Amino acid sequence: MTMPTPQCPWRMQVHHIHQETPDVWTLSLLCHDYYPYRAGQYALVSIRNSAETLRAYTLSSTPGISEYITLTIRRLDDGAGSGWLTRDVKRGDYLWLSDAQGDFTCDDKPDDKLLLLAAGCGVTPVMSMRRWLAKYRPQVDVQVIFSVRSPQDVIFADAWRDYPVTLVAENNATHGFIAGRLTRELLRQRVPDIASRTVMTCGPAPYMDIVEQDVKALGATRFFKEQFFTPVAEAATSGLKFTKLQPAREFYGRVGTTLLEALESNKVPVNAACRAGVCGSCKTRVVSGEYSVSSTMTLSDAEIADGYVLACSCHPQGDLVLA
Ligand code: FES
Repeated sequence: MTMPTPQCPWRMQVHHIHQETPDVWTLSLLCHDYYPYRAGQYALVSIRNSAETLRAYTLSSTPGISEYITLTIRRLDDGAGSGWLTRDVKRGDYLWLSDAQGDFTCDDKPDDKLLLLAAGCGVTPVMSMRRWLAKYRPQVDVQVIFSVRSPQDVIFADAWRDYPVTLVAENNATHGFIAGRLTRELLRQRVPDIASRTVMTCGPAPYMDIVEQDVKALGATRFFKEQFFTPVAEAATSGLKFTKLQPAREFYGRVGTTLLEALESNKVPVNAACRAGVCGSCKTRVVSGEYSVSSTMTLSDAEIADGYVLACSCHPQGDLVLA
């Protein structure tokens, strides 16, 4: 079996699949070589073992502790990657993964008090880090608050029995759950020393935005969020104008937006995996207009000269014309 793309050189075999919740599955993978990664990182997965479609998933396993490399995936209705991985992939199949990526990790944070805040599938890096901290930094005081839609949506329910966790359920809260959503008041009550903690959060973008406002209002100064979950904003109706030549159409993006956000919010087809200028999957050609770029990592000099950009790392300064 040949490597579909040099970006995904790691071949792994599906050892078993475990259903976590009604719409989340964990795939346990065997890697026959040593696969280096850090707790909290993610990998790109080649979907249908093709070079065209890459998707990023957190490695929910923990280096040095977990027996398998695991990916924990929520099935999305229109998810090309999640649909294939949770419906079609079977035991014994092979997947191709990239090197581990991302800097949402705890091993570089020397703090003695951490607060980990997760919502939904955002718990995947949090579980990876929680196990890592228990084994390698047992002296660290770790508090976890995990928000779910309802009690049946607790991912890693068994594993959480090993660690203290505050569970918050928006609907049907039963014994052991706080009813409602994570609020500033709840944070104040549950984490009175929040100002002295390093706070790390992962979840849907609106959740992380509110969490960021709340923890900062309560005095926390060391705050990290996983940038991997990017909001798909409402399409703008004014601001920067984008003219796409093929197929011809015009649309708008807000000033300060990335090209990727402008494309996605207008439902213009574009691939995106890492959203951080690393994987190259969002390569797009700009024919004219002013822009700056924060990464050209996977582009050749000839491509850059030809106007190619990584849409996730392209910051339009004015109206753009796209190929
Ligand atoms: S999404 Fe990976 S480089 Fe843009």
